Amino acid sequence: MKHFISMQQLSKETMNQILKEAELIRKSPKTINKQLFAANLFFEPSTRTKMSFEVAQRKLGLEVLNLYEEGSSLIKGESLYDTAKTFEAIGADFLVVRHPSDYWMDEIEEEGQLNIPVFNAGSGKEEHPTQCMLDLLTMYQEFGNVEGKKVVIAGDIIHSRVAKSNARALEKLGADVYFSAAPGFEDHSLPFPYITMDEAVEIADALMLLRIQHERHIHKTETDDYLSLYGLTMERAARMQKHAIIMHPAPINRGVEIDTRLVESKQSRIFKQMENGVYVRMAILIHVLKEWGIINENDINECKALNII
Ligand code: CP
Repeated sequence: MKHFISMQQLSKETMNQILKEAELIRKSPKTINKQLFAANLFFEPSTRTKMSFEVAQRKLGLEVLNLYEEGSSLIKGESLYDTAKTFEAIGADFLVVRHPSDYWMDEIEEEGQLNIPVFNAGSGKEEHPTQCMLDLLTMYQEFGNVEGKKVVIAGDIIHSRVAKSNARALEKLGADVYFSAAPGFEDHSLPFPYITMDEAVEIADALMLLRIQHERHIHKTETDDYLSLYGLTMERAARMQKHAIIMHPAPINRGVEIDTRLVESKQSRIFKQMENGVYVRMAILIHVLKEWGIINENDINECKALNII
């Protein structure tokens, strides 16, 4: 694998390998016994992805460099490519990048060549592969496998990178993927059937809710009736199958796409997803750094019950 950018580049085997590794790490943490610098470049707000990448890096024993747009020379007009090359020059061993452009990695590759791996921490409306991997880990922990499972992704599909990464990966893994969306939030470029939220709660093994992405809307979206018309109300949740789980990548708009009482309900796995983000990101970092030859098996220590942070 070159850079970790899109779920479309991952085979079923690679996804399974990384998920297995993440489960091993959850049970028995690992560290990298080599000085490596991780550079986190975030040009869009983030709480979970930014912080869980940083926890993953620190648990692995890495040095962490953080750059935010407002404190960077991007403000002076430096390109993303030159920013990335600068980190390569000063000794970063890999980059983690979140950026509002859908295809920022293509823009970097058009400008020149980067000789360190890059991890996509969210690209515009297009891809969020590490979020997808943590969602898959959560479903694997629940069901053992997603083959034949009915997964409904519900909400602002057209503006959601989480919806796109998950739908494509889940289809590859043999799940039955459905979308549910309010008028105007559909993305008909993707080949998945649309159902209503009332149908969704009846059939879903996993119901993945999405936030309305107001920051990507041209016109203001009114949300007064959204919960009752399109969201997960208490009444709808009561009609879910007993084994079904509620997921959400967060941040959550409580009372909009989900009744606030369901966020920490028995069927919710929302905070479990966040916890899994750390293990899956540790596994992805190890997988890609090994593929690049930046580390090898001898650089990895198993550290049972050792708390690094
Ligand atoms: N799920 C997710 O990407 O959250 P953040 O935007 O807080 O990173």
